[in-house]
Amino acid sequence: MHGQLALASSLLLAVFTQHALAVDKTRDPSLDANLATAATQLDRLALLGNDNAWLFDFTAQEPNYNFAPGGVVNMNAATFPAAKGNGMTMAMLNLGPCSMLPPHYHPRASNYVVAIHGNTTTYMYEENGARLVTETLTPGMATIFPQASMHMMVNNGCENAQLVSALNSDDAGTQNIGNVFSNGFPAELVNAAFGQNLASSDVASKMTPVGTGSNWGLSECLKQCGIQPNGTYIRF
Ligand SMILES: *[C@@H]1O[C@H](CO)[C@@H](O)[C@H](O)[C@H]1NC(C)=O
Ligand SMILES: *[C@@H]1O[C@H](CO)[C@@H](O)[C@H](O)[C@H]1NC(C)=O
Repeated sequence: MHGQLALASSLLLAVFTQHALAVDKTRDPSLDANLATAATQLDRLALLGNDNAWLFDFTAQEPNYNFAPGGVVNMNAATFPAAKGNGMTMAMLNLGPCSMLPPHYHPRASNYVVAIHGNTTTYMYEENGARLVTETLTPGMATIFPQASMHMMVNNGCENAQLVSALNSDDAGTQNIGNVFSNGFPAELVNAAFGQNLASSDVASKMTPVGTGSNWGLSECLKQCGIQPNGTYIRF
């Protein structure tokens, strides 16, 4: 099933793009700056003077918290100032039926991922010469993606999958690979480098945007699950 990486049609892409949000925006840059330069933790506590400043609600993070197709919600220095300086990110990974996280890496963090719901297969490739490491994560099962390793994952089932991810930076960063080759580097140089036509304006126009972090997966899987991927079908 994972052999054919036929992504859902461009129609689905259009639906997906509607609620695309791209990357985390720093919500309160001046608070983050003040937290970074505060002399002591008590000074930081004073800057985070309201108890609400210590509470993060993953389920309230729109549009990323969804299961159609899903999304990645990061609790990090950008989205939650109390995380500034603590050296880690907690992320919730939501994958609707058949949905996937596309190939990506985190430039500044190792990534521990534990499954809470569903059945998700992960793929990880560390560097040239490394072997592909594949794991299937069901509830309670975890794996590690070392810093800067390339990885992806797909929900195998017709149920929602949810995983919790810990990264050892409050600014881990995420780089999706496809977008670099299709919409980043000059197409003619990418094609010269790889010896074939991988990049073109057509590929660039069809490349799934970063969006919420999750994509629809294999169309056969969606068909088997009886899902019309219209962006509204299911939530916890
Ligand atoms: C998870 O999904 C894979 C692929 O469909 C399947 O082979 C495996 O049996 C499933 N695992 C569980 C525990 O259901
Ligand atoms: C979206 O998909 C769900 C599940 O397949 C279906 O029940 C619902 O009617 C669809 N909604 C629209 C607006 O097509």
